[in-house]
Amino acid sequence: MLIFDKSVKNRRSFTLPPLEVKPISLNFKRETQTNLVELSEIEIIRHYTKLSQETFAIDTGFYPLGSCTMKYNPKVNEVVASYEGFSLIHPLQELDTVEGAKGVFNEANQILKELTGMDIMSFQPAAGAQGELASLLMIKAYHRDNQDVERTEMLVPDSAHGTNPASANMCGFKVVEVKSNEHGRVDFEDLKKKVSHKTAGLMLTNPNTLGLFETEIKEIADLVHDNGGLLYYDGANLNAIMGWIRPGDMGFDAIHLNLHKTFSTPHGGGGPGLGAIGVKNVLKKYMPIPYVENNQWITESESSIGPMKNFQGNFLVLVRALTYMKSLGLDGMKHSSSNAVLNANYMAHLIKDIFVPKYPERPMHEFVISLENLKKETGVSALDISKGLIDYGVHPPTMYFPLVVKEALMIEPTETEPLESLELLSKALHELVDLAHRDAEKFQELPHSTKMSRLDEVKAARHPIVKATDERNNH
Ligand SMILES: Cc1ncc(COP(=O)(O)O)c(C=O)c1O
Repeated sequence: MLIFDKSVKNRRSFTLPPLEVKPISLNFKRETQTNLVELSEIEIIRHYTKLSQETFAIDTGFYPLGSCTMKYNPKVNEVVASYEGFSLIHPLQELDTVEGAKGVFNEANQILKELTGMDIMSFQPAAGAQGELASLLMIKAYHRDNQDVERTEMLVPDSAHGTNPASANMCGFKVVEVKSNEHGRVDFEDLKKKVSHKTAGLMLTNPNTLGLFETEIKEIADLVHDNGGLLYYDGANLNAIMGWIRPGDMGFDAIHLNLHKTFSTPHGGGGPGLGAIGVKNVLKKYMPIPYVENNQWITESESSIGPMKNFQGNFLVLVRALTYMKSLGLDGMKHSSSNAVLNANYMAHLIKDIFVPKYPERPMHEFVISLENLKKETGVSALDISKGLIDYGVHPPTMYFPLVVKEALMIEPTETEPLESLELLSKALHELVDLAHRDAEKFQELPHSTKMSRLDEVKAARHPIVKATDERNNH
């Protein structure tokens, strides 16, 4: 039921004292009544609390959503982001009145430069995909300035996240797909065939989206650079390597980091996120403005690609991420990466009797299994098993991605999960595989524990109803 349906005329949450001053002007008075909800405070609280309990959240259950790093978001991040000095400042305030905010940008810049090996960071892009676009725009500007206008191709591995080819396309590049080899890594021979004088760059994540470290990264970077291209690092998988190895040292020229994943700020449901970008000096003059360097605002730059978002981006996300970085320190971040890798490897070990990993190599922070055999034997698909997991209180892993693996489930436990969560997922998967062999039909009824069981997912995605009807919502 919508909150508008619960409204009762003249019911109030609070009463305002009578107005002691005359309204300044009546020119702006509305002509029609607003259609605001009329309810007491407790009714509003109950409505939204109930709704919040109907959706899955990292605070209520295990969320092993691969490629998304759904780690626990420490509450201290929220406390710091709520400090008035951060939450009540206005984006149009004079820059010299927001020294504290400048300090946040400056410190985050220092820490992330150290962690990634890049020369300068910007915190404007609101998501990973926007960070990708910003980085590619800079790469494009670089080639244009070098009169290298024939560089129109962007190399993208076939295992890449969908946003990579989409960003390249939006930026006007032709996407050239590079094959994966039988080990799930970039096929170096295929890359050699595809790199040319038309190559503007290569987009790569390391570890890749199969959770495997690209061991030939040095050779890959040298090949692309020797051919005049630049390397872009999709940092959505940084959680596997934080503090151990740096994209800057691997040879990448531009990167994005998903602060809303690796650095524990809440995400899902569309944001707000923060796809911080970092570049080497060769691309610095193209950085979106404004940004902070050496504790100074840089607000003008002739070659900048321009702003990617209004004002300073999602500043309070940065405050949360910086709180996380400072509360762990560099050693703590390194330790969390080790635990993320350990948890993923132990998880793979717990289920290896039912799911042989698609690629036998040791995974990093996430791994991919294929349910192709299970589907052939029983008719039960990756989607069916995912629905079944919901009844165990586990959010389904990422399904059907990467596209190079049939009936794929990508599992990323993250470092914040205790042993019991891993054992719960293992128990659930064992029981569901057993059920698939005994009574495959049963899966059509799963899940039982949610308000709705099997939704028409295509319709929900294409025609979502996300607000009250216009009639109700005419305020
Ligand atoms: C590997 C990878 N790259 C890029 C992205 C895009 O990040 P965002 O969802 O913040 O746009 C994701 C998101 O899931 C990802 O997993």
